[in-house]
Amino acid sequence: MKDKTKEWFSEARYGLFVHWGLYAVLGGEYQGEKTDHIAEWIMNDKNIPVEEYRKLAASFGGEEFCAREIVRQAKEDWGMKYLVFTTKHHEGFAMWDSKCSDYNVVKATPYGRDVLKEFQEACEEYGMKLGLYYSQAQDWEDPDGLRYGSDSRKKNFRRYLDEKCIPQLQELLTGYGEIALLWFDTPMEMTREESGELIALVRSCQPHCIISGRIGNELGDYLTTGDNFIPAWPLKRDWEVPATLNDTWGYNRYDENWKQADDILRLLLKIVGRGGNYLLNIGPDGRGRVPKESIRILNQVGRYVIENGEAIYGTKKMEPYPYDLDWAQLTAKDYKLFVHVLKPRMRIELLNMANQVKGAYLVRDGRRLSCGSRMICEGDPIVEVELDEELRHETSYAVCIELAEKEPIFEPIRG
Ligand code: GLC
Repeated sequence: MKDKTKEWFSEARYGLFVHWGLYAVLGGEYQGEKTDHIAEWIMNDKNIPVEEYRKLAASFGGEEFCAREIVRQAKEDWGMKYLVFTTKHHEGFAMWDSKCSDYNVVKATPYGRDVLKEFQEACEEYGMKLGLYYSQAQDWEDPDGLRYGSDSRKKNFRRYLDEKCIPQLQELLTGYGEIALLWFDTPMEMTREESGELIALVRSCQPHCIISGRIGNELGDYLTTGDNFIPAWPLKRDWEVPATLNDTWGYNRYDENWKQADDILRLLLKIVGRGGNYLLNIGPDGRGRVPKESIRILNQVGRYVIENGEAIYGTKKMEPYPYDLDWAQLTAKDYKLFVHVLKPRMRIELLNMANQVKGAYLVRDGRRLSCGSRMICEGDPIVEVELDEELRHETSYAVCIELAEKEPIFEPIRG
């Protein structure tokens, strides 16, 4: 990011996405039929009429919802640096006390409290950056909002922009303190001018607010990759991967396709090494409970992230290492290369690494480890770090190799 006030984003590396809306009440099933798509799309996928869908609000109890506990865990247990909350998803329902639409959590549900306010207060308490997801083009409740798969030619999209989208964005940008990020989504056929208009609105209310890539027309402050799609190599610009822990964003009681914590950690490190951010999702149910499995996975990943924060936050993208290591991932800062060891191993060996090494230490406690560089018989350089008996049996720890040069020097594979 060129703007210094936005640099936090490139340093944060790890954030929490929270999808919570009326779809959580259905939990992936409508009139006995399960959805086989992401659960927050159920209104569209099962053709639920607006009048029927509206009735869900009466069952939105959120009895066990606690924004503060989610933010506390994200900060203290999971090591995340920012949070993005779905203020209005495609369903069109506002999760704050919107003045321009009564179709909102305060006026229409038994929960009756302003969820966004609760997140704002918790984020302020814990020093967490707050980002807002807002579905700017799709709105399945407003007759003039767009809807994927249906004809928009008869719609008056301008009216929707003027009467719902823009006034709601104004409320969000002026009533909830500092908004670090506006996470727009599914721009559909929005024109460059329309995207530009929303950007100008954000800039005028909150000049330091970062705008996601899905504002459309390539006008965002950073690139948002496809959902769960990880770039295979570093990109020139800042980027972020939004991702799920199972196969849905909104709560789906039938989705047990949970990813393994080890896999999530490996993906996080891959993303970080390539210069991106990982925005991982939780989808609380209609009572506001975060699925236990999500908590279990995030706790496990979080233990590593917190213990090895030096090797994650503020790291920068690096040239790809020429070999694909099954036992490690690499991240870097100026004059430092971090080796994240993810399988038991006798010693760390990085073939074709041509730096002069000045020393090495275990990131979690600073313990010094002996290291060196030499040429192997084939004439290629290698950097090695010796591991003591105890470390040889461990999985998941990070080692820092201190370099004489600013960047790691990797030589191409020869011979
Ligand atoms: C999408 C989906 C959506 C989800 C989002 C998260 O494009 O439409 O439901 O909120 O991706 O990245």
